[in-house]
Amino acid sequence: MFYLQNICDNVFLYMFNNQKDRGMTILKLLAQDHKKVKELLDTIEKNQDFRLFKSFKEEIMTHNALEEEVFYTSLRSRLDNLDILIEANEQEHDQTAELIERISEIDVKEEKCKIFSVIKKSLEAHIAKEESDIFDLAKQHFSSEELEKMAVIFQKLKDEGLVDIRSQGWQF
Ligand SMILES: [Fe+2]
Ligand SMILES: [Fe+2]
Repeated sequence: MFYLQNICDNVFLYMFNNQKDRGMTILKLLAQDHKKVKELLDTIEKNQDFRLFKSFKEEIMTHNALEEEVFYTSLRSRLDNLDILIEANEQEHDQTAELIERISEIDVKEEKCKIFSVIKKSLEAHIAKEESDIFDLAKQHFSSEELEKMAVIFQKLKDEGLVDIRSQGWQF
């Protein structure tokens, strides 16, 4: 709680001290993460080589945790009747995590490839849905300043590795 309070207290100072961050919204940061994840998936599939799987795992697990912590928590706080949509997406995050654990425990390459292709397809569909339906809702219900503020908090949590903090109550 102390960390988040500290982050919120310093958020505007941080933004104005970092001109390069001006105009950077949570939607752009999430889309950057999505692009990186999709590139890693494409490379692993193309080369049928799982040496990049650990990087993919770290990238997507951090992304999903922060997306829920910052973006979904904000959406929930602002919009009624959104729980079903958000919960469905969070369930998809959990399913991805389960499949990633399964793949990490398997040694047979053919089996790994089968599970990997399920992860890739479902994640691509999840990302497409997020970037259309959820991003549209966020644009309708949050100002540019709020989307920028979320970006700052998202980036600071990512930089400081505070990805395990769960819904400590900060809201817009
Ligand atoms: Fe997601
Ligand atoms: Fe996402």
